[in-house]
Amino acid sequence: MNLIKFNNFFFRYKGNEDYALNNINLKIGDNKFILLCGETGSGKTTLIRCMNGLIPQFYSGFYKGKVEINGKDTTETSIANLSTEVGIVFQNPENQLIAMNVEHEIAFGLENLGIPPNEISRRIKESASLTEIEHILDKAPFELSGGEQQRVAIASILVLEPKLLILDEPTALLDPYMAKKIINLLTEIKIEKKITILISEHRLDLILPFTEQMILMKGGYVIEHDIREKILNGDNFKNLNLNKPVIYAIFNKLRIDGIFHGKIPASIPDAINSLKQLKLGE
Ligand SMILES: Nc1ncnc2c1ncn2[C@@H]1O[C@H](COP(=O)(O)OP(=O)(O)OP(=O)(O)O)[C@@H](O)[C@H]1O
Ligand SMILES: [Mg+2]
Repeated sequence: MNLIKFNNFFFRYKGNEDYALNNINLKIGDNKFILLCGETGSGKTTLIRCMNGLIPQFYSGFYKGKVEINGKDTTETSIANLSTEVGIVFQNPENQLIAMNVEHEIAFGLENLGIPPNEISRRIKESASLTEIEHILDKAPFELSGGEQQRVAIASILVLEPKLLILDEPTALLDPYMAKKIINLLTEIKIEKKITILISEHRLDLILPFTEQMILMKGGYVIEHDIREKILNGDNFKNLNLNKPVIYAIFNKLRIDGIFHGKIPASIPDAINSLKQLKLGE
């Protein structure tokens, strides 16, 4: 089943001459962990804004083609309605947190949807437990650390029980330790809730071990969408100006030097297995 379907979609922001998105044809299925990857300015955030109706309903501009979320046309369905299908967490959670305390913050979206109180408290408990924020439910959002704010932002989306959770550089403002915790948390959410997680993330070292599919963007085009193994071993990824993972850089060099001939691994355990097969020093 396709949760999201882009059909020959183009978008140009008002006042810009160039299209930020060009002829996008993309299908996103259920229960997948997908990494959105591309150089700065390639259109990742713009693509994400199309996935809950913010484009074209909130950002003015010119569009052609069609985007469907779970069969609903994003030009004809309200953003509130689409928010029960797709939840988006943006880079800076501070801008997203508005309530007096964390519990109210999480309940906010549900109250707006008219969900009964006992169902609201069940969902708050579940999402607070999944994101490990039970101990800060009565704190004000501004009293929280960056990592805690990001977890609250994720919890306030999870309570809406979307089929797709999208995160736009969720770890950009966090230190490496917190970034790792957030990414581990996302993998647990994926396993527990069986939803699709789509994440735009520059910390490829951290995210690639969990990634199933990758979407590569360049200059407003989706240039490749495939399983991780295919993308990592293809030329498109190699040619993009990205901060490549250390494991990738090592195995790519070993390949160039004619020492390694296998598939480039994406995680430390896979890399160790690949190294064991190499007969170094002979
Ligand atoms: N609100 C906006 N108004 C006008 N132009 C915009 C707006 N947001 C983005 N753009 C332009 O659209 C293009 C794509 O930007 P976008 O933010 O989608 O890239 P990105 O891949 O998310 O980059 P980054 O990795 O830096 O976050 C850029 O040329 C950018 O200047
Ligand atoms: Mg961006």
